[in-house]
Amino acid sequence: MKFVFSQESLPKLAVDAIAIGVHSGALNKSAAASELNKALGGALERAAKDEGFKGETGELLKLNAGAIKAKYAFLVGLGSKKEPEHDCEALAVAAVRASKKFGSLALVLPASMPGENHVRRAVQGAVTGAYTYDRFLTGDRKTKPTLKSVTLVARETASLRRAVGQGQAIADAINLARDLVNGPPNEITPTELANQARKHASAAGAKVLVWNKAQMAKAKMNLFLAVNRGSAEEPRFVHMSYKPRGAKKRVVFVGKGLTFDAGGLCIKDAGNMLTMKCDMAGAAATVGILVAAARLKVPVEVHGIIGCTENMLGSAAYRPGDIFTSREGKTVEIINTDAEGRLVLADCLSYAADLKPDYLLDHATLTGACMVALGPWTAGLFANDDDLANAYTKASQASGESFWRLPLTEDLRGMLKSPIADMKHMGDRWGGSITAALFLREFVRNHKWAHLDIAGPAYLDSPHGTQPKGGTGFGIATAIQFLENL
Ligand code: BES
Ligand code: ZN
Ligand code: ZN
Repeated sequence: MKFVFSQESLPKLAVDAIAIGVHSGALNKSAAASELNKALGGALERAAKDEGFKGETGELLKLNAGAIKAKYAFLVGLGSKKEPEHDCEALAVAAVRASKKFGSLALVLPASMPGENHVRRAVQGAVTGAYTYDRFLTGDRKTKPTLKSVTLVARETASLRRAVGQGQAIADAINLARDLVNGPPNEITPTELANQARKHASAAGAKVLVWNKAQMAKAKMNLFLAVNRGSAEEPRFVHMSYKPRGAKKRVVFVGKGLTFDAGGLCIKDAGNMLTMKCDMAGAAATVGILVAAARLKVPVEVHGIIGCTENMLGSAAYRPGDIFTSREGKTVEIINTDAEGRLVLADCLSYAADLKPDYLLDHATLTGACMVALGPWTAGLFANDDDLANAYTKASQASGESFWRLPLTEDLRGMLKSPIADMKHMGDRWGGSITAALFLREFVRNHKWAHLDIAGPAYLDSPHGTQPKGGTGFGIATAIQFLENL
């Protein structure tokens, strides 16, 4: 998909479709819509009336145009909230999805003076909006991408050109994470996930270290290895690093990379197991963050650490009642083998703490309880530092991804007490996502840390807003925004 700029008047744009964003009830306030409507002799307004187009989110009107150079005019509903950057992305996603058979599309950016952030988000929306996962479809069902060129209606400048490249880099990272999450678990094994991380991170200019089981054993990652015991697949530990010269801050991201979570001996029921290939979405986001940060050349040192394994039921599987000594030295009593993600993360966070990060963040599809609390589209944010929590919330407001801060309630810490080990790895049912976060906190020492529970938004049963069904690449856009704000 190539992006070009044009300042041609709308009726003269020679493209298959022109897309205009319209806020709720504001069709007659749109200068672009009025310009096209006039050229079309009022046909746009009549069609909107006939079809009952109001401009609500998700609405789309396709008009076979006639009297203008473009074949079609699209009106895309943007709802009542006016957030120009988000509107640019939403317009692009909807217009690209509606252009499956078209070769060229023009986007009239819903911003009074299109700047870098608007262009970036429009490009991000166009490239992520075109995403499909068709690797395993054959014959006619294989999608044939037709859309070759997207025209942005704005004056081309060097900074807007650069913004195109930035939007493309972020979108590519998001689409990569989606591919990794959507990939079936027999293909995206821990070894393959590590290979993909190595391939993409090193192509972007990052350094990559991959450890096998023996190397992890030498590093005393016994909690991580406990989770792997029931699996025929070898685990992998991956450390990616991007170190630009002159960086003043070091940020370390850790990702949960369970390529399949059957629950272990505390096996999940079939319904809950079906989508558990998504349990490496934290790792996929971490790979995406490293790749995008390196391509964007953010002036911050960024590390990405992913713990890759399956959680299976082989005869060597770890059991409830087992006790293991973590890399940090604390002993942990296993209660339920389905609470495996925190064990993998614990040893990864301990390794990450050795890097002495200014900020330590982890992404993990950690608890169903977080989805019960916040619904499927919002991630839980836990932090041991208010400034970090506020900075992350601010970044998420700009990126359009939804995070909500949850408390590290001290009182619940008692639920992790064990009579025979330093601690249990889980509490009881109530406050399940909080006790999971409290367990992780035991492994970050005194570093500023935030835990992002993305169990809901990382993987969707049906499309929502700009996000597709299946893997979403959630977390990457906010992390990049956070790094750029530092
Ligand atoms: N991977 C799951 C959490 C999950 C659930 C992610 C739904 C995405 C969608 C995690 O390993 C898990 O099984 N958690 C248990 C913890 C419990 C045993 C304490 C849960 O949430 O039920
Ligand atoms: Zn589990
Ligand atoms: Zn899991």
